[in-house]
Amino acid sequence: MNKKIKKILEKKNKSKIVCLTAYSKNISKILDKHCDLILVGDSLGSVLYNFKSTKKVTLETMINHSKSVKLGVKRSLMVFDMPFNTYRNTKEALRNAKLVIKKTKCDAIKLEGGKKIINIVKYLIKNKIPVLGHLGILPQTDRKFTFKGKKLSEENRILRDAKLLEKAGVFSIVLECIETKLAKKVSDQIKIPTIGIGSSSNCDGQVLVTDDLIGLSDSKLKFVKKYANLSKIIEIAVKKYKSDVLSRRFPKAKHSFKN
Ligand code: KIV
Repeated sequence: MNKKIKKILEKKNKSKIVCLTAYSKNISKILDKHCDLILVGDSLGSVLYNFKSTKKVTLETMINHSKSVKLGVKRSLMVFDMPFNTYRNTKEALRNAKLVIKKTKCDAIKLEGGKKIINIVKYLIKNKIPVLGHLGILPQTDRKFTFKGKKLSEENRILRDAKLLEKAGVFSIVLECIETKLAKKVSDQIKIPTIGIGSSSNCDGQVLVTDDLIGLSDSKLKFVKKYANLSKIIEIAVKKYKSDVLSRRFPKAKHSFKN
C-alpha cells in the first residue's frame, strides 16, 4: 500500500486529517508543508473558470492543473478529482485513471457517488488504482445544493453508500454538506476516515477550497471560514506598484542592467 495512504488510514480516531485543494504549484508548495492530502478538485471549474457547474471541466484541464500542482508536492498525498463523464463505465474509468496517473503522477483519484458507481470503484481498486470516495452533495450530478440527511431515506442511503464504498476498498470518503449527527453516524460506523466539507467536526478530517480559505474567491458559503484576505493584500501591492511606475520610483538602477 502507498505509504502516504497508510499514514492517512492510521490517523483514524487518533488525529484529524488536514486537507485542502490546490490548482497550481505556487499554492501546492505551501500546502505541502502542512496538509496530509492535497486535492486537485474539479471545483476549479467554478473557482477559476466561472463555470456554473463542474460538468464542463475536462480531463485535459484537470491534467494540466495537476501537473503544475505536482511540482509543489513532496510529502502530501495528491488526489486527482475525476471530472464528470470520465468514469461512466469500468473500461472508461480505468483507461482515464491510468492516463491521469501516468501524466500527473498523482497518488489517487476521487469519484463522486455510492451504489450507482460501486462496480466502477471495485474495478479500479482491483486494478490497483487507489480511490477516494465522495458522498453527500455530489456537484457533478446533483441539481440542488442543499445539505443532505434531512430525510431518513437520505440518511439511510448515505450510510449504506459509505459502507458499500468501504467494502469496495476506498481508503477514505469525502462527505460534502451532510447533517451533523449523520456525519457522526457515518464516521463511527466505518473504519476508514471521513473527510468533511460542510459536514461538522464529527468527521475524521476536513477539506476546504483553498481560494475560499485565503479570500481569493467571493465565496459566502456557510461552512467556509476565511483565514486571510489575499484579494485585499494583492490589491494593495498592485496599487503601490502602479503608483511607483507612474511616479517613476520603479524600476530603480538596482532593478536594471548596465554594461
Ligand atoms: O472539487 C473539489 O474541490 C471538491 C472538494 C470540495 C471536496 O470535491
